[in-house]
Amino acid sequence: MSKFIVVEGLEGAGKTTAQELIKAILTKQNIEFVSTREPGGTPLAEKMRDIVKSETDEILTPEAELLLMYASRIQLIENVIKPALDSGKWVLGDRHDMSSLAYQGGGRQLDQNLIMPIRNAVLKGFEPDLTILMDLDPKIGLARAAARGSLDRIEREQIEFFERTRAVYLSLADQNPKVVVIDASKDIDNVQTQITDKLTAWLTINL
Ligand SMILES: Nc1ncnc2c1ncn2[C@@H]1O[C@H](COP(=O)(O)OP(=O)(O)OP(=O)(O)O)[C@@H](O)[C@H]1O
Ligand SMILES: [Mg+2]
Repeated sequence: MSKFIVVEGLEGAGKTTAQELIKAILTKQNIEFVSTREPGGTPLAEKMRDIVKSETDEILTPEAELLLMYASRIQLIENVIKPALDSGKWVLGDRHDMSSLAYQGGGRQLDQNLIMPIRNAVLKGFEPDLTILMDLDPKIGLARAAARGSLDRIEREQIEFFERTRAVYLSLADQNPKVVVIDASKDIDNVQTQITDKLTAWLTINL
């Protein structure tokens, strides 16, 4: 059975670095996989990503931002993720639905009565088999991200926005046994050991 594994976390938390390690672990196990990123990952979803990330004169409303996240997500699920899983490949995602719950719910503080009906109607219960949450103080993550280059529209939010986002991430992880939390504040070697241990244990049960 093919699996859908997602890496989540704030900007600069080490998602892409973690993905490289996970790719190596899956390859070693002879598991064929495709990688995705969200928002984006299909031609149309990437156009929506551009809208969400770029700074324009016209303000993007929080509600439109939410709808673009779900519009791009369902394009990716139907056109890339499900076909890959159906063909026997695994899928390794850089962000997925937990990001919307954390950023639009926590960061933007959109009403749960708006988010949850949209989420449930669009996703219809589709969810990752495993989510690896890279948990990090946003001050450290933003400093790491800033050191790498200029910040996009979302990355330029106030620190409180990311504190709220992190809090929702952690509370969702607490309620969901399919989420493992990595202490991403440690050095890269330590972080990689945490990921290797948790993923290897999960693979032992789920392969
Ligand atoms: N444990 C770590 N300690 C210190 N630096 C790290 C650690 N992990 C990753 N980095 C560095 O921090 C930067 C951000 O890492 P990475 O790109 O993996 O994060 P990301 O979560 O993918 O960020 P983004 O949200 O912007 O895509 C990179 O320069 C990376 O080399
Ligand atoms: Mg990244």
